[in-house]
Formats: sequence, structure tokens, C-alpha cells
Amino acid sequence: MSIRLSSGKEIPIEMHKTRMVQKIWLIPVEERLKAIREAGYNTFLLKTKDIFLDMLTDSGVNAMSDNQFAAMINADDAYAGSMTFYEFAKAVEDVLGYKYVMNVHQGRAAEHLLAKVFAEPGDVVPTNYHFTTTKAHIELVGSSVLEIYHDEALRSESANPFKGNMDPQKLKATIKKFGKDKIAFVRMEATTNLIGGQPFSMENLGVIRQICSDHGLILILDGSLVCENAYMIRQREKGYENKTVAEIVQEMCREPDIFYMSGRKNTSVRGGMIATNNENLFEKIRPWLPVYEGFYTYGGMSMREIGAMAVGVKEMVDPTVAGCAVEQIKYFVNRLAETGVPVVTPPGGLACHLDAMEFLPHVPQTQYPAGSLAAALYISSGIRSMERGTISMDRDKEGRDVLSDMELTRIALPRRVYTISHIEYAIDRINWLYKRRDLVKGLRFISEPPVLRFFDGRLEAIDNWGKDLCEAFKKEIGDH
Ligand code: F0G
Repeated sequence: MSIRLSSGKEIPIEMHKTRMVQKIWLIPVEERLKAIREAGYNTFLLKTKDIFLDMLTDSGVNAMSDNQFAAMINADDAYAGSMTFYEFAKAVEDVLGYKYVMNVHQGRAAEHLLAKVFAEPGDVVPTNYHFTTTKAHIELVGSSVLEIYHDEALRSESANPFKGNMDPQKLKATIKKFGKDKIAFVRMEATTNLIGGQPFSMENLGVIRQICSDHGLILILDGSLVCENAYMIRQREKGYENKTVAEIVQEMCREPDIFYMSGRKNTSVRGGMIATNNENLFEKIRPWLPVYEGFYTYGGMSMREIGAMAVGVKEMVDPTVAGCAVEQIKYFVNRLAETGVPVVTPPGGLACHLDAMEFLPHVPQTQYPAGSLAAALYISSGIRSMERGTISMDRDKEGRDVLSDMELTRIALPRRVYTISHIEYAIDRINWLYKRRDLVKGLRFISEPPVLRFFDGRLEAIDNWGKDLCEAFKKEIGDH
């Protein structure tokens, strides 16, 4: 939540206290330059000993609650029939309203099973925006994704509160064009990850549901950030201001035929799930669970994680948990926007997103501005962010780069991990970097894998710009 100070200024306030800590280090800028070079200018390849603030992702790195740790100790370890699984299933039914649930080892495992069961070669999957792993699994079975986003979705600076909406007219046109038999399913992602963590409205979800029902199509909700989406519906959509996050989440969950999530985000554990009220659909997926994940009552997760996830499912709808990152991101984004730094607005879930094409207009997309900016931010601050642009797109069949719709450098806020002074530090270093942005040039690949190349592709700085940036930093700020 946020709180208004007597001066009138509003700040995010942590509704928890720290009871266990991990020490972090800020190494000098010259060592940071060395570390990023060794990492092939790819922030995924940095080692945590060289990182000050790890804002790569909000996945699997959130702070768990005391009750989640307690649940881990109390978990009932059994290969089959563990009571911890049944406690989890009860939490899912109480909070999300689904009778049938299975665990999977993480979100992409759910995507693997859903693509395998429901998508055929030549099918299409309309979505409000794809996520990297979703797209990979859909393409691996020979189907393709179609982005059916809202007109405003790709405009980084905007006042539109629901840039994550799917465009209903475009969806209808797609159904007409391909025919319903060629549509494997329709996918809505709660806060579109790759285009700035932007929510969709409840109204939009309802309209899309209706179109799917009218045409006999399966609607799947990726609810990895369902609570942040609900929190923003409460703040932004008329008629929802007096509902609780828990009520809004329940209402959202009534719409799709199938719900899945990466439990690494909202539930602050390491796992995932697929849930539904449709027994037929559930039974289509269920036989594959022991083949790819594990027995029905653990699905590739440890019972300890499932115990913590059961508590996480209940805690995630608490507004102080659902709103924790949203409020920090709002503060972060608004402060940068005030000084003219190009950021995605309105602030969304997951992260503060820098618009790298605006930040580095002199770097062409073929030289990966979002990747360059992530590396430059690391050199200037020790902060690890993530490229969400052309490097995150794999090459086409002819081996050409596929230019992404947006070039974003994502500075994620894991839940309950960082404080306002960390955010103040990040704001300061981003402002400095913005002033010296002329020093940052592009990157080129030295080596890259064929799929999801952003994870471990290696690059180098064109004209050795990392050195120039490091020198300027030392002169103007110092070693740290
Ligand atoms: N769906 C969404 C919307 C996601 O953001 C992610 C993961 C997944 C599915 C896949 O889940 O990682 O548990 O297999 N996002 C992470 C990120 C990786 O950093 O944004 P997973």
C-alpha cells in the first residue's frame, strides 16, 4: 500500500518487517565492467556476487512470509497422496474457486502441457500479448501466436489504464479469417509481461469470454500476476473501487475455462499450477502430468514448496501483498517520468520499464538498444535488469533478426525484497545514465543458441563503449 505523508507526498509503505536478511555488495565500477564483459554483455550471465540490486525478475526471488516457511517445515512428504497437496487444492478452491487443480514444476511446464493437449500443427493462438516461453511452446507443436492487442498497447507513454486489453473486434476478425477449428485456444495474460506489465479490465475479460463462448472456443488465463491485475482493476475500473482484491480475483477466475500460473510470482514460491472447473478439459491434461512432471499429487514440485504455495495462494490476495510491487513501481516510474526519463506509463505490475528506443535513439534496433541499456545500467549502478526487446525474439527461419514491437529494459521489483532507499538509488543512477546516454552504443552477438537466445547468448559492445561509460562514471561519480 502507499501512505500520504504530512507534506502531502505519497510513498509506498512496506506492511511487513524484515526478520531475515542476505548481505549484498556493491563492487567498484571497474569490476562491474569486467563482470559484464565476462557475461557477454548479457545480464542473465552475471554472477550474483557481482550484483548489488538484483532486479532481473520477480520470479522465484520474492520474500516468503513466516507462515510460508512454517508450512515448508510442516509439509507432508509423500510420493503419492500427500495431505499437503489436498491443503493446497483446498486453498485453490477457496481463493480462486476451482475444483480441479494440478501442480506443475513452473509456469512454462503448464504451457507445455496446454500446448501439447490443445494445439495442433497449423493452429493459431490469439493472445493479448505473448510471453517468451508461451510462444516457444506453442511454436514447438507447430502452431503460432497472434497478438490481438489494444491499439494503445505499444505506445510506451500513455494514460490508458488498460493497455493489456485484447481488442474484441480484432479477435472477431481473426476467428472469421481462420475459422474456429484452427484456433487452439484464446489466451489472456494478466498484466502483459513483455509490453510493460499492463493490466486488462474486467469488462474486457468479460467481452472476450463472451466471444469465446459464442464461437465454442476455450479461453485460457495466464494468471501468473492475477493479483496485481486485480489490484489495478480496483484502482482503475469504475465499479470496483469498493470490492476487495480477493473478490476481484474470484470474479476474474470465473471467466476462463482454464487458469494457469507460474507460482514463482504471485505465490512467492518455486512452482506452478493448472486449474479449472471443467472436468472434461482437466481429464484431457491429467494423463500427461505423470509423464512430464510427476505424480498427480506433486506434479514436479517438492511437497515443501506446495505447502508454501498453499499459504501463498491465501496470502496473495491480501492487498498489502497484491499491491506491494504495484505501489513501489508507481513511485519508481512517476519519479523517473518527472525528470523526463522515457518510461512505460501508466505504471504497471512486475517492473519499471525503460523505453530503450527513446532512451538510446541513436542505437538501431538491429544493435539491440534494450540489451545495451541493461548492460549500461549494470555498469552505472550494479543493478541487474533484463532485456525485453529484439534479443528476446528468436530469429526467423531464414536466420534474420525479428525486430520486437518494443525495446524495453525491465527493472523488476521482486515482492517484499527491496526498500525505498534501493529505489531512490536506482532512480539516481538511471538519471545519471540518461544524461550520459550518448556514450552507450549497440551490441552484437558473438554466440547464440537457436531457442530463447536471450538466456545465454553472448554479445560484445560495439566500439568498446563499456569502457567509455566506466571512465565517465569514475570521473563524475567515483568508484561506486
Ligand atoms: N507467464 C508469464 C506471464 C510469465 O511472466 C512467466 C515467467 C511465465 C508464464 C513462465 O513461468 O518462469 O515459472 O516457467 N516469467 C518470468 C519473468 C520468467 O522473469 O518474467 P515460469
